[in-house]
Amino acid sequence: MIASDNDSVISIRFDKTIILIGFMGTGKTTVGRILADRLKMPFFDTDKLIEDLEDTPISDIFKTKGESYFRNLEAQVLAEVLDGKKLVLATGGGVVLNKDNMSLMKSSGVVIALTAGLDTVKARLQRSSGRYLVDGADFDEKLERLYESRAGLYEDAHIIVSVDDKVPYDIADEIIYKISLFNQNNIW
Ligand code: S3P
Repeated sequence: MIASDNDSVISIRFDKTIILIGFMGTGKTTVGRILADRLKMPFFDTDKLIEDLEDTPISDIFKTKGESYFRNLEAQVLAEVLDGKKLVLATGGGVVLNKDNMSLMKSSGVVIALTAGLDTVKARLQRSSGRYLVDGADFDEKLERLYESRAGLYEDAHIIVSVDDKVPYDIADEIIYKISLFNQNNIW
């Protein structure tokens, strides 16, 4: 149910885990933190859990141990964090590459895909670093190839929200509104 409190901030009581998926740079962590705050739920991020587990930044894990090592850890951490407690979870952009991850996420809560056009992710990722898969001189080429290779993989979510030209607080509001509609209709 949506209720406006005295500060005019939309709040909602929701008792299911919320899982954010989406390409790098779509704002899963930022939006996830806002959602967790609004919904009074704990927030987790699979990348952060992996970094804590390995005591190493993600880009160094890729560099020293390789992508398949990282993907195994990602699947392991995902299964551990989705153990039944209610939470908001931001995932790494590649979590959808593993079909078992996708099935687990869909059976554990509401999966929300944040989508963005290539121009949006390019502009956002140009301003940040530390993403091994696109870092380096051939950033544009790597990014375009990766973006195309992921086309369609995020569309199997329960809810899809485009983030193009939107700010994180508005995206969180849109998610809460869409969740409330689905919730009322007992879609899950
Ligand atoms: C990856 C996305 C990253 C991180 C890793 C791999 C990907 O997370 O998990 O660098 O394969 O798309 P963000 O989507 O949070 O940047």
